[in-house]
Amino acid sequence: MAINERIEQLTAAADLNSPAPEQEPARQAWFMARARKLIEKRAAEAGRELTFRVETFGCQMNARDSEKIVGILESVGYREARSEDADFLVYNTCTVRDNADQRVFGRLGRAGHLKKNRPGMKIAVCGCMVQEKSNVEKIRKSYRFVDLVFGTHNLYRFAEYLCNCLETEGMIVEIWDRADRIVEALPVARKYPFKSGINITFGCNNFCSYCIVPYVRGRERSREPIEILRECERLVSDGVVEIMLLGQNVNSYGKDLETPCSFAELLQMVCEIEGLKRIRFMTPHPKDLSDEVIRVVRDNEKIARHIHLPLQSGSDRILKRMNRRYTKEQYISLALKIREQIPDVSITTDIIVGFPGEEDCDIDDTIDVIRRVGYDNAFTFIYSKRAGTPAASMPDQVPDREKNRMFDRVLAAVQETAHARAGLLTGRTMEALAEEVNVKDSSYITCRLSNNMLVHVPGDPSMIGKMLQVRLDECRGFYFFGRVV
Ligand code: 5AD
Ligand code: SF4
Repeated sequence: MAINERIEQLTAAADLNSPAPEQEPARQAWFMARARKLIEKRAAEAGRELTFRVETFGCQMNARDSEKIVGILESVGYREARSEDADFLVYNTCTVRDNADQRVFGRLGRAGHLKKNRPGMKIAVCGCMVQEKSNVEKIRKSYRFVDLVFGTHNLYRFAEYLCNCLETEGMIVEIWDRADRIVEALPVARKYPFKSGINITFGCNNFCSYCIVPYVRGRERSREPIEILRECERLVSDGVVEIMLLGQNVNSYGKDLETPCSFAELLQMVCEIEGLKRIRFMTPHPKDLSDEVIRVVRDNEKIARHIHLPLQSGSDRILKRMNRRYTKEQYISLALKIREQIPDVSITTDIIVGFPGEEDCDIDDTIDVIRRVGYDNAFTFIYSKRAGTPAASMPDQVPDREKNRMFDRVLAAVQETAHARAGLLTGRTMEALAEEVNVKDSSYITCRLSNNMLVHVPGDPSMIGKMLQVRLDECRGFYFFGRVV
């Protein structure tokens, strides 16, 4: 039975004359039933449908969390609005870098003005940013019009908070320091009908010295393999052909389970699901990407020919201070092993520049790795100081001007290698998943290759969600023009 059907049955069976049940997910189903009644009444009073909008910042995990939030909002009777001028507005935030925080506060300020002209509007802020106490204090003090603040560990209670928020005035703040359980079977509204992310682990135990994630997402917890496989099967029976397995460090999947299961074993089991055509995963940590995982990828064509392998820095000195637990040469031999074992694989990465104490000789090392690995693409970030992390109190912070100069050097090197790699597939015919109508020219359909590159082909919307054989006629830097063969 599809997830949404199961929760729908529980919601239909909820007895609103009795108190909310204690056990989950029946408790959330009860609150969804109650919210439905409230929204129906308000819509009748307003003489129109009520609307919602969820604005998502940050990574794939947040995108997945937003699908859960949207799933609940839709199932209680809200309709999606095209802008933030909506009856229920949610900001699902990221705090990995400071500019993400600043963007949310800017948007929140504007939402406060919208609220003045929209009686009954509710504004919620959730996600990683509000797991930090200082941000919650700032919201309490300077953004008093916010109605609901909830964290990442208790997202599964959103229906309950939504209901309370509709029935009371004043700000509700519900932040937990850790997760008490993993609740399965809540409604999910997938952004794309044919592809989906699935969480396999939550949290992170690595404590890279610059990173706030372990503090806001908590310790690593793996879902049981059987739950993951069941969710994959349900998605496939619902029309999904591509699944992305999500975790902060997918390689350490399963080590915390009562009956341990390695990530390679999980991947192999997911590959065996009939009807599933493509599998991706994000993100492996280079320190423990096993030969076993490389072998499973190599032997299963269903697994995308794309490995995102965050480097962060190419300098041994900086890597040590970052607490990454690998050396430059270890990283390079891993990347070259991947290239050798998996033909046509694309390797992409994340790089941080301007880490405390970083000097030009460290950037030279990073550029050396970029050239030797030959990345297909790289996300380069300027180091952002996150309060409470070890790197934030390192004395030798790099001035902004220096950081910007280092950033330009790294970016130029990345562009050089990415350009060199991009054209290599020109003329080949490959499988591509048709994803959407091209945003610039609606007579083209944008498709994604196994290696994550995009190819635009003449076509129509009936192709969307299908795996097609596409000839890559012309490379335009980071994407192709092609045709279905
Ligand atoms: N400053 C800059 N970039 C960071 N990242 C994580 N923390 C920081 C920080 N404090 C980057 C890393 C990570 C990506 C998701 O974000 O490169 O891989
Ligand atoms: Fe942050 Fe490092 Fe964990 Fe990634 S592995 S989430 S960079 S602490």
